[in-house]
Amino acid sequence: MSSTPWWRSAVIYQVYIRSFADGNGDGIGDITGLRSHLPYLKSLGVDALWINPWYKSPMADGGYDVADYRAIDPLFGTLADAEQLIADAHRHGIRIIPDIVPNHTSDQHVWFQAALASGRGSPERARYIFRPGRGPDGAQPPNNWVSCFGGPAWTRLPDGDWYLHLFAPEQPDLNWQHPDIAAEFESILRFWFNRGVDGFRVDVAHGLAKDPELPDLPHTLTGETDQARLGHVEHPHWDRDDVHAIYRTWRKVADEFDGDLAFVAEAWADTPERLAAYVRPGGLHTAFNFDFLMASWDAKDLRAAIDDSLAMLDGVGAPATWVLSNHDVMRHASRYARRTVKPWVPNVPYLPEGPADLELGTRRARAAALLMFALPGGAYIYQGDELGLPEVEDLPEAVRQDPIWERSGHTNPGRDGCRIPIPWSGPVAPFGFSPADASAAPWLPQPADWNERSVEAQTGDDTSMLELYRTALRIRRDHPALGDGTMTWHDTPAGVLAFHRQPGLTCVVNLSDEPYQLPEHAAILLASGPVENALLAPDQAAWLTR
Ligand code: NOJ
Ligand code: CA
Repeated sequence: MSSTPWWRSAVIYQVYIRSFADGNGDGIGDITGLRSHLPYLKSLGVDALWINPWYKSPMADGGYDVADYRAIDPLFGTLADAEQLIADAHRHGIRIIPDIVPNHTSDQHVWFQAALASGRGSPERARYIFRPGRGPDGAQPPNNWVSCFGGPAWTRLPDGDWYLHLFAPEQPDLNWQHPDIAAEFESILRFWFNRGVDGFRVDVAHGLAKDPELPDLPHTLTGETDQARLGHVEHPHWDRDDVHAIYRTWRKVADEFDGDLAFVAEAWADTPERLAAYVRPGGLHTAFNFDFLMASWDAKDLRAAIDDSLAMLDGVGAPATWVLSNHDVMRHASRYARRTVKPWVPNVPYLPEGPADLELGTRRARAAALLMFALPGGAYIYQGDELGLPEVEDLPEAVRQDPIWERSGHTNPGRDGCRIPIPWSGPVAPFGFSPADASAAPWLPQPADWNERSVEAQTGDDTSMLELYRTALRIRRDHPALGDGTMTWHDTPAGVLAFHRQPGLTCVVNLSDEPYQLPEHAAILLASGPVENALLAPDQAAWLTR
């Protein structure tokens, strides 16, 4: 057994529980469904599950509007089911990392309900961010902040007060300067640590500290600029220095418990330096590296994202984590399915140009998986990545549920297309997502041809995405070079990335338009597609044992 903490090299599988597996036939994924597929996750070879919010919620934003942080939503099961899941997963050697949502609650949370009932200026309102409006009759919002889902970040109550919501109006922002908030979240962390969870994914980790003056956004920050390329500019509510004090306390809470607990921050920062600040000693353990996800399919861009992130994280002694897709972004098989892949700009709708060439996108997704699993640090799989699921881009408008769709005035399709229920088996929908005698169809419709992408269809097919993932993860587990550690780049022609991991493994990715001649005598351990005459085709990757 190595003494390196598990989270420095973990492969973490993201379970969007509503779309993973439906145990009771109501068309919505649940804990029973998840429990029944733990053997699948074990055979895939993942170390831990990040589970999107499963708490009691009116589901205005897929559960990111939490009404009770200590209760499981009845759609997903009960607290006893969650405890069973944690125990079962641990028996399979799989750790459990739920989401925690500290930036905002649901408008149905008892605190917000009390704030509404208690009126203007009440102590109950001090737990949130209530302000009078501007203008002669207070009819203008207190400032010009905008909601990430479109429209103003303020909603007015009939009594005249406005409250802040950086997301949907059903998600009022908490006032983290109020002592009740810190105390409550420490208690919530302990509640779940006592039930055996192995850590948390921290939602909107960069949003908790607001400038107490609530100043207007300067005009330089209101446009759709690509801030990541411009460097850091102080912002009145994102990534403020004060936020780290909260996580130093959380770290102390985690350290009270045995078992190597770990936090992963969903933190959007302008620069790798700013991101690294979340994972300094005494802070959170890891943070998602979205620069890698946002890079286009381009050797220079990807290499820059990798180098910058490793350099900064190394400086604070934290491991990198790599991610290609999640429940908020267009699935990478579809992103990469355009000849020119647009880089992603945070908070700007990602609207790809031209029709998807899924054959191309799949080839690149296979190569990207080998790249990601060979990089130093941990890696995330979003459920369905291992099946090569594309984004469903033609969902009928009537079935769309993401609040982004409505709030953007139907200009941004939102995130439903990456949240389609998983196809497990069988020729027709629901493809084993729900039991045969289900009373309802899946909450979002599955494409009719997803029988070809089901777990059953791909199992045992050596050319399938699923078997590529299984093999890659098996090698990753067994090979001493993979996971935590360092890497060295090889000199390669433009458009080709190659790096060495000690001892004895080289990863080569061909992002150019020409076949690339692999070094002589290199033995191929794994390749993302057929390699003939030692030629690595465009959009292919290989692991070599040298
Ligand atoms: C980030 C989550 O990943 C996203 O799904 C959610 O809508 C926002 N945070 C608000 O909680
Ligand atoms: Ca269900």
